[in-house]
Amino acid sequence: MLWLLRFSGFFSAALVMIILSPSLQSFPPAEAIRSSSSSSPSSSSSPPATLSFRQAPEFRNADQCGTFSGSICDPSLVHVAITLDIDYLRGSIAAVHSILQHSVCPENVFFHFLVSHETKILETLVKSTFPNLKFKVYFFDPLIVRPLISTSIRQALEQPLNYARNYLADLLEPCVRKVIYLDSDLIVVDDIGKLWNTSLGSRTIGAPEYCHANFTKYFTAVFWGDKRYSGTFSGRRPCYFNTGVMVMDLVRWRRGKYTRRIERWMEIQRRERIYELGSLPPFLLVFAGHVAPIEHRWNQHGLGGDNVRGSCRDLHPGPVSLLHWSGYHHHDMGSSSSSSSSSSSSSSVSHLLRRFVFSW
Ligand SMILES: *[C@@H]1O[C@H](CO)[C@@H](O)[C@H](O)[C@H]1NC(C)=O
Ligand SMILES: *[C@@H]1O[C@H](CO)[C@@H](O)[C@H](O)[C@H]1NC(C)=O
Repeated sequence: MLWLLRFSGFFSAALVMIILSPSLQSFPPAEAIRSSSSSSPSSSSSPPATLSFRQAPEFRNADQCGTFSGSICDPSLVHVAITLDIDYLRGSIAAVHSILQHSVCPENVFFHFLVSHETKILETLVKSTFPNLKFKVYFFDPLIVRPLISTSIRQALEQPLNYARNYLADLLEPCVRKVIYLDSDLIVVDDIGKLWNTSLGSRTIGAPEYCHANFTKYFTAVFWGDKRYSGTFSGRRPCYFNTGVMVMDLVRWRRGKYTRRIERWMEIQRRERIYELGSLPPFLLVFAGHVAPIEHRWNQHGLGGDNVRGSCRDLHPGPVSLLHWSGYHHHDMGSSSSSSSSSSSSSSVSHLLRRFVFSW
């Protein structure tokens, strides 16, 4: 699992390097894999040599973008939150680069980086890679969620940083009213301003919904057998959504105390196993059926395989704005379905890669 997630991160970074080369320094694969497996580099404040990226070019606003006051509270900013982890760094850097590259107003994008380790190293690295980037690094204390995390069948999903998205409303400045949360294994190939402008209506979060997915399987028999739990979905039409691409209204989130609601489900999960996966099910419990639907083009996921059951998703018909490498769990769910989806996933990736390169 872990190698695959790492691979996905590397792959997306590699993809960008293929396309954008020479804007990012290219590494031979062996080098990249080695650097991503050294999870605790020395704590000097400059990044290890293997963890440096060539400085990205300057990305300039188009004429229509207006002027920026210099404050993080400026209402013209587009806020993007993304985690920075030494192990998945290439993915995060590639994601940031892809956003800037495709933005009409790249100077209006403010990045909120969530970090649990090596804060200084990562901050230095971002500064040297993107000298003009508007960003802030936030330390997310793993101790906040460690007592709430239950053991999962998928170890990689239990990284505390996966839960940082639950705390954005607390971490970010109160004047930040909305944020786009993005996983670090994706590439944006469209103007992020369009996603930002998507209306949430009266909803607190927006995400592409997948109503054809079998919702039952995300929770255990214990959950469905106990009305105290499953009753939470009565009167709703819950659909699966992926928490790797979300638009979040932080004002409504704070007002509705959603962090606490998510934590309550995690506390229940500690006592009784109501689901198997990590950070996703509490989001489904709180929000499924109350999500503002966002166009599917903003999350072409399932690349590399379905991250839940090893089955591959169909590619979105028509243009795609965001490519997402959902991790494929080769190791921890070894079954006959793995091999079949493994081959179909690689063909969908190469198909997409062809399409992607072609449309560039
Ligand atoms: C988003 O909305 C703002 C404010 O209405 C507008 O100025 C901007 O051009 C829009 N951006 C895009 C990409 O549609
Ligand atoms: C949905 O998943 C549940 C639990 O895995 C299974 O029992 C049920 O048959 C599935 N339903 C459909 C329509 O596939």
